Amino acid sequence: MTSLSGKHVSFWIDSTQETNYPSLENDVSVDVAIVGAGIVGITAAKLLKEAGKTVAVIESKRVGTGVSGHTTAKITSLHRLIYADLIKELGEEKARVYAESNQAAIECVASFVEQEQIDCDFERKSAYTFAPSAEDLSAVEAEAEAATKLGLPASFVRETSLPFSVAGAVQFENQAEFHARKYLLHLAQGIPGNGCHVFEDTRVKTVDEGNPCQVKTSKGTVTAQDVIVATNLPILDQGLFFAKAYPKRSYLIGAKIDRSLAPEGMFIGANDNYRSIRTTPYEDGLLLIIGGEGHKTGTVSETEERYQQLEEYAHSRFGVDSIEYRWSTQDMASMDKLPYIGKLTPTTNHIYTATGFSLWGMTRGTLSGMILSDLILGRKNRWAELYDATRATPFVSQDSLRENADVATRWISDRFKGLQTNSFSQVSKGEGKLVTVNGDKVATYRDEQGKIHAVSAVCSHLGCIVNWNSAEKSWDCPCHGARFSYEGKVLQAPAVNDLEKKNNTSS
Ligand SMILES: Cc1cc2nc3c(=O)[nH]c(=O)nc-3n(C[C@H](O)[C@H](O)[C@H](O)COP(=O)(O)OP(=O)(O)OC[C@H]3O[C@@H](n4cnc5c(N)ncnc54)[C@H](O)[C@@H]3O)c2cc1C
Ligand code: FES
Repeated sequence: MTSLSGKHVSFWIDSTQETNYPSLENDVSVDVAIVGAGIVGITAAKLLKEAGKTVAVIESKRVGTGVSGHTTAKITSLHRLIYADLIKELGEEKARVYAESNQAAIECVASFVEQEQIDCDFERKSAYTFAPSAEDLSAVEAEAEAATKLGLPASFVRETSLPFSVAGAVQFENQAEFHARKYLLHLAQGIPGNGCHVFEDTRVKTVDEGNPCQVKTSKGTVTAQDVIVATNLPILDQGLFFAKAYPKRSYLIGAKIDRSLAPEGMFIGANDNYRSIRTTPYEDGLLLIIGGEGHKTGTVSETEERYQQLEEYAHSRFGVDSIEYRWSTQDMASMDKLPYIGKLTPTTNHIYTATGFSLWGMTRGTLSGMILSDLILGRKNRWAELYDATRATPFVSQDSLRENADVATRWISDRFKGLQTNSFSQVSKGEGKLVTVNGDKVATYRDEQGKIHAVSAVCSHLGCIVNWNSAEKSWDCPCHGARFSYEGKVLQAPAVNDLEKKNNTSS
């Protein structure tokens, strides 16, 4: 196994305090229950409490430790390349709604920061999508033209402050960046009290719609008139969101860089294997954050190589020689480019959700909080229709979903042949493999002390076979992105149940 440099933890989490909100102990009743304490859940909770509703945020782990605690945390309406496509596919009017609503999300964050003087390294900066070579130049030029047409603060530039030349870039002025977890922890602090709660370490298992709705957790029930399922990908299967979006995993590294050598702004490449670049205050200088190497979750096993590629880029492009941090995370990419924000299904009246942010959830997630709170409060929201979560999308029926799962299982078993065996003795220290025992697949990890950890390889969501992720030491599901620790504990929705433990590991 390759050894990687840098602390294996998100900088945002490492540089903030641990939280210890209570677990749910007795059943409680509120106006709105919010499942998940990421940017969607916390923003919605803040806005609903401000409007006079009682809320309970129910988080399976800790506030801001999901995707929102592992992001790059650029707050921008420049979503790599999107506006030229939106105009072409949806028309200028809808593209304008997209532009306007994402700009409004930036201003929503800015106004919270301003009103509450939130200490979260919020800074206004320009965002750029750059063409590394002439090959990607026309896409960048088209994006600048489309964005300008929609009234965005866009322009085409030939030069940037990156320490290497680019063929050109689209620049959006007056965008922003922040420390996402400092921001979320501040907002979360304002929620408990006056009938409102934040519960941590409390996993929601299911939600029954009714009057009121029942949110059933591992530790009790929360009853509420309305429920927001803000678990990144909804844990509920109704609405088939796991088929309308797919999980994309990406990698980040953080390296100390001298202020005089750091680029000024936030950057992302327009090419296929793009890099995302920004800096943030760190010790007496700056931390250069570089992200990229994305792939569909569960389809790559040797994930160390992804970090190495980013390190190599940091060395060759920025001359940095030591890596302080490395971490990875995933987000749901929507099939039709737009996030899904609104009611869970056409026939559900009190359960809402938001997903499919395609790695732009700082704005799109904030926007979700704004839209969902308006819908629950019965206020008109002029952007809600565009993002309607029940809109028709080119997706699949229940039958084809089952077929998809079968295909994924077959495809994975072919692709990962080298990671399969019939004997536990074939699993080396530090390695994860699928061991076949009496026809059943057992997800097996042997730790550095030689102890075997064996769990069922059948994903507790809808039954696909999980795959080993060597850098994170996790079992990742290629179907809808659920992830589990090597001990089988749920790390990531949509799964709500752990992988079954297997005890007979003698073969
Ligand atoms: C590599 C990467 C870089 C990114 N960079 C940017 C960027 O620069 N700018 C940008 O705009 N966006 C970025 N994004 C996207 C953005 O970070 C996400 O879209 C956003 O954080 C998603 O927020 P969320 O609230 O949906 O999910 P989360 O933050 O994951 O919140 C969901 C919460 O639900 C909890 N949960 C799950 N299941 C349960 C359950 N059963 N019961 C209770 N709680 C549960 C989880 O523990 C989690 O805390 C990036 C994404 C990735 C992958
Ligand atoms: S995440 Fe759906 S089957 Fe595994």
